[in-house]
Amino acid sequence: MITKKDFGKTEKGESVALYTIENSSGTAVDVITYGATLNAVRTADRNGEFADIIMGFDTIEGHEKYSNYQGMTVGRYANRIANGEFAVDGEKYELVKNEKGITCLHGGGELSHAVWSAIITDDSSIEMSYESPDGAMGFPGKVDFKVSFTLYEDNSLKIDYFAVSDKKTVINMTNHSYFNLAGKGDILGHKLKINADAFTPTDENSIPTGELRPVEGTPFDFRQFKTIGDEIYADDVQLTQCRGYDHNFCLNEGDGPVASAYDPESGRLLEVYTDLPGVQLYCGNFLDGTRPGKGGEPLIRHCGFCLETQFYPNTPNVPSFPQCTYGAGEKYESTTVFKFGVYNE
Ligand code: BGC
Repeated sequence: MITKKDFGKTEKGESVALYTIENSSGTAVDVITYGATLNAVRTADRNGEFADIIMGFDTIEGHEKYSNYQGMTVGRYANRIANGEFAVDGEKYELVKNEKGITCLHGGGELSHAVWSAIITDDSSIEMSYESPDGAMGFPGKVDFKVSFTLYEDNSLKIDYFAVSDKKTVINMTNHSYFNLAGKGDILGHKLKINADAFTPTDENSIPTGELRPVEGTPFDFRQFKTIGDEIYADDVQLTQCRGYDHNFCLNEGDGPVASAYDPESGRLLEVYTDLPGVQLYCGNFLDGTRPGKGGEPLIRHCGFCLETQFYPNTPNVPSFPQCTYGAGEKYESTTVFKFGVYNE
């Protein structure tokens, strides 16, 4: 079942709508047209108690004023491009350097801060679309983007991404939800598992060095469930330089979830499936409690964890990484599923 509500107006006066998709067990997701944002997910714990497990904002003002991409669709190029530059067939492109004047982060924020058009495609799906002009944030090509959200009876939320450009260009889209399976507090006590034998270590600007480093024997080994807080402050420059986990994991091939997390207390479980080669684990390291979130509650450090399915950061400048350059008319298509449930230890 889908319902639609008004979510207010942006500062520029554009109307924003909120759609709720609910299944028969009462699991519900809210998506808003500002940033094609996953604004809330209400899911049951092991006693059937529902909580909203998405940290973010309950007003459009909150999203516009305080956002660190909470719940948003991110593109054209999720994550970072070093020095805000890359080349396609020898032609160099200069991008907006929206992070410390050095890197291009999250495509300059374009897709996340745009108001998307939305249509209800059936009683469990919403499709959002947005057209980005040629040259937006410095990227080549006019691109038609689509993101659809479908909630199934088994409590899976499927996010389908689609893009097609009229010029050869790079595309890397993700969803930037901050999950907190307790619905409150911080996520340091959550257990996490990531099906990755290697990760991409970064320099001081969070740009991968190009190395694929084995996780074995490092705080990045999440191949078995591990408490997120156990090693987040370990004396490892990879963690100290970005205040905790903020890294891309190189996903192993195979079926099954690429990542799973649960809150031991409530039992709420999240499983992530994707066809993309990487996932960024970010634990809200830079949040500091100064920004008000839902209900005015401060967004504290580590109040949520993000599992941003993606091509590796800075791929356009690293030929050894799996590539994400698409020719004119060539379709970018990708699917990520967030499946909600309960973990029985
Ligand atoms: C980045 C973080 C950043 C956050 C919010 C994540 O994808 O890796 O470094 O602080 O997004 O922009």
